Parts: sequence; C-alpha cells; structure tokens
Amino acid sequence: MRRPETLSLQVPAALRQPVTSLEEAESLSQQLRRFNRPQLAWLIEQATPEAEAALRQAAGLLREHYYGRKVYLRGLIEFSNVCQNDCFYCGIRRSNPSVRRYRLSEAQILDCCRQGYALGYRTFVLQSGEDPAYPAPRLARLVTEIRRRYPAAALTLSVGELSAADYRLLRQAGADRYLLRHETADAGHYASLHPADQTLQRRLSCLRELRAAGFQVGSGFMVGTPGQTADCLAQDLLFLQELQPQMIGIGPFIPQHDTPLSQAEPGRLRQTLLMLSLLRLLFPKALLPATTAVGTLHPLGRELALSAGANVLMPNLSPQEYRKDYALYDNKICTGDEAAECRACLQKRVESAGFTIDTSRGDPVDWEETKL
Ligand code: 5AD
Ligand code: FES
Repeated sequence: MRRPETLSLQVPAALRQPVTSLEEAESLSQQLRRFNRPQLAWLIEQATPEAEAALRQAAGLLREHYYGRKVYLRGLIEFSNVCQNDCFYCGIRRSNPSVRRYRLSEAQILDCCRQGYALGYRTFVLQSGEDPAYPAPRLARLVTEIRRRYPAAALTLSVGELSAADYRLLRQAGADRYLLRHETADAGHYASLHPADQTLQRRLSCLRELRAAGFQVGSGFMVGTPGQTADCLAQDLLFLQELQPQMIGIGPFIPQHDTPLSQAEPGRLRQTLLMLSLLRLLFPKALLPATTAVGTLHPLGRELALSAGANVLMPNLSPQEYRKDYALYDNKICTGDEAAECRACLQKRVESAGFTIDTSRGDPVDWEETKL
C-alpha cells in the first residue's frame, strides 16, 4: 500500500515508546480518533512490534481506568442453527446440507436460563440463525417470560435482520441489547462474502433501526476474511466511530469445511489482537468480548484478547448435545465433553491472565448518560 506522504509526521510519537500512564493513553486515544482512512490502514498494515506493544499498553490502561480488571460474563444460548441466509463463510448457511439442524423449544431455552442463573449469570444472550420458525412475536413472548422470571438479568438477542417494527416489538417485550455484526463496512468486500440478496445497505439500516428502537447495540466484524485489506479494516473502524455501538465483537475468520470459503486461510491472531487494542483506544468505554473464535485460533487466544483490551467473555449455556451442531467454523472450542466445566475453566483462565470475573449485568459505564 502507498505510504501517505505526510503520515510520518502524524504517527504519534507515543507509538515508538512504552505507554506508561493514563494521560499518555488518553492522548493516544484522542490522536487515533482523528486518524483518517489511509492513516488507519497504514497503521493496521505497518504497525511494528513496538507500536503493537504501545497500543496494547495504552488499551490496557484505558480498560483498567473504565472497567478495572473485571471481565463480564454473558451466558450464550444458541437456540437454533436453522438459517435462511447463505453467508459464504458460515457453516450453518442454508446451502449446507451436512448440518444436523436443531431448534430448542421455549421450555429448553428457559431451562438453560435457569441453569445459567443458578451459576451466577446475569446476562443471557439468545442467538440463532435467521430461523423463520422463531418470528418476532414468538421471540417477544419468550423475552417477556425470561424477563418475568429473571428481572435482575439483562437479555441480549442476536437473531439477525428483522424489520424495524419487529425490533421495536422485541425491545418493548424487554430485550435490552442486540448483537448484529456489520461483518465488513466495505460494500465490495461485503458482496464477495454474501449472496446478492444480502446487502451491506440492509445490514446498516438494521443497525440504525436497532439503535432507534432503544437497544444497546453490538456490532463488529471478522478479521482476515479472504480478500480483506487493511483499508477494509480501516473502514470498519470509521464506520464504528459513526455508529458508536455499546459493544463490538470481533474475531478471526476461520474456514468451515462445508462452505465456499473452506480452502481460504484463517485470519491471524496478531492482527486480531491489534484490532482489539485499536478498538479499545477508539472506544474506551465499549464492551469488547474475547470471542470463541480467537480462542479457537490459539489455545491462549482469549487470554491474549483480554490483555489486548477485551473485557467480556461469552461462555456457552446451550445444552451439551447441540453445541457441536452450531458449527459456524471448524474446530470450535467448548463443544465437547469438557464443555460442562466451562465456568470453572473460564474462571481459571481469567484469573491466570490477571483478571477477575464479574457476574453483574455488565452495562457500559456510560449507559445511563447515553440512553435515548
Ligand atoms: N469464522 C469466524 N467467524 C464466523 N462467523 C460466522 N462464520 C464465521 C467463520 N467461518 C461470525 C460472524 C457472525 C458471528 C455470529 O459469527 O461474524 O456475525
Ligand atoms: Fe446465517 Fe449468515 S449464514 S446469517
């Protein structure tokens, strides 16, 4: 990539030496927020090991300032792997006939919540493919029931693209948060990862409608999808600065053997960690999960993600027998027999990385101020 001419003047001096104080971290954060697209792309592509270390230190200081050493837990319930979409990267796409499709009943989902609540979880994330058998009114009834049973818990939905009216219905039923990754903010790249009837434009209007419906919004993208450039990632950062979501989930692309992208290279750990640190600097108060995908890419991926600036973990609460069927990508961790130990395993991992688990709802620090 061509080096923007004046850039050497604009790369913060802080990136050439360790960042040791909150003031330095905040000043770096402010400088990065003024970076334009070529500057961000250049940093993403050319960051030296020293610059990466400086970004990581600064991200750690900001995370510590706003959230301490706390890691929030979200209990993830993957309640249906039926999907009417056909994303080229995703293992549960509708064109994959090898998936053993499952759908949990309301009673099974409520049972997952009951177990999760007893384990201390105060956030439930209901995630599924875009399953027409779970239309918004049915989901809304379920949301109402979960709310009634567990008023102290936050409820997050992640069920894809719906109409603005559906989003409003779900919000009124009592869902607090909604996760919908934009996947990539580059329209050409988006088109190379999805069939023609799934457009970036539609995805972005859904995100705006979620915001208007009053949700805490989570978005995010994959790192290292085939054909992704540093410029695509720069666009992701700029788009997120416009959207200002409360949560940002990123993880490396990992090929799934039954998809059109089965032969592609996975995303890189180093680039994922760099993007996490940049996100913490650009969004100091955001909730950033250390995702299962980064833990799948590397045995210590989630611990490294926490050290790079993440502050959320999303352990799986789905019934054991279905976990391996929610295979968005190959070798997904926490799906085998060991998954019953999830809570204990995570606690050990979090503590070994120098953090502590926090089981509260884990709202963003500034949520009360920014609420619509
Ligand atoms: N590798 C990594 N992440 C994936 N996702 C879907 N397929 C893959 C894959 N092959 C991510 C998408 C989606 C989220 C639920 O999982 O970003 O939004
Ligand atoms: Fe289901 Fe992408 S394949 S949303």
